[in-house]
Amino acid sequence: MRRLEGKRCFITGGASGLGAAIAERYVEEGAAEVVLADIDLDGATALAQTLGHVARAVRLDVSSESEWLAALDTCDALDVLVNNAGITTLGSIEEVSLEQFVHEFNVDVIGVFLGCKHVIPKMRPPHRTGGSIINMSSMCGVRAQADLVAYNAAKAAVTHLTKSCAIHFAKAGYDIRCNTIHPGLIRTPILDKVLAQSADPQALYASFVATHPLGRLGTPAEIAAIAAYLAADESAFATGAEFRIDGGSTI
Ligand SMILES: NC(=O)c1ccc[n+]([C@@H]2O[C@H](COP(=O)([O-])OP(=O)(O)OC[C@H]3O[C@@H](n4cnc5c(N)ncnc54)[C@H](O)[C@@H]3O)[C@@H](O)[C@H]2O)c1
Repeated sequence: MRRLEGKRCFITGGASGLGAAIAERYVEEGAAEVVLADIDLDGATALAQTLGHVARAVRLDVSSESEWLAALDTCDALDVLVNNAGITTLGSIEEVSLEQFVHEFNVDVIGVFLGCKHVIPKMRPPHRTGGSIINMSSMCGVRAQADLVAYNAAKAAVTHLTKSCAIHFAKAGYDIRCNTIHPGLIRTPILDKVLAQSADPQALYASFVATHPLGRLGTPAEIAAIAAYLAADESAFATGAEFRIDGGSTI
């Protein structure tokens, strides 16, 4: 505990699910500032109020470059960026429309690209001497499924985008690390939305559990724990790495 003493953290999609759990953990770990950046400003504001004076909310649609610049402008310096905001589009190559595919990429890939790009000045001198960028991929960025063509492609793109950034930052001597987290299925609102799109939610839920050798879904706290490790100085030698926290589903 208190591993993030003095650190200034910015979490996209911080109003709900994994982002909210990460924000709570960062506050517990002693972060100096936790910015909840979300398209759902009301939700982010409500959560920030429960987290105390170190937390605050800012409106951000991660697919918009101008909104990224405005949101980051509210921060003097940052030590940690968690690119967590994401959506899930269900459907195979025959079912997903171009419009749906592009929307998935705008949020899940362009959002991460813009975050990685525009946070750099906030993590480098004269503001800071380095930082940690944590990009939320998924087990679906490792293992493909027929009915998740857009999500699979987007999360795989996030994985390689992260590795490219990690090499660039290291070569440039920026002391900025960049890693991905690959959760297995975790019961959050995004999963409930996926279940709601199904004709038989119960059967779909059972099939989700069956893909995890540990025989259960994960919890938001289990993802927040790895996000705390990656934000803390103890992970200083980790960059460009895939952290699979998935109950064994990608073995
Ligand atoms: N829950 C899972 O099982 C699971 C598994 C693997 C990966 N993930 C990934 O974890 C991340 C968080 O998922 P979650 O389960 O907490 O989902 P969630 O739906 O509970 O939360 C997502 C948050 O992102 C916000 N958001 C959506 N579009 C946005 C946009 N354009 N700009 C800014 N904010 C936006 C939402 O308002 C919400 O607060 C996502 O990237 C998701 O793909 C989730």
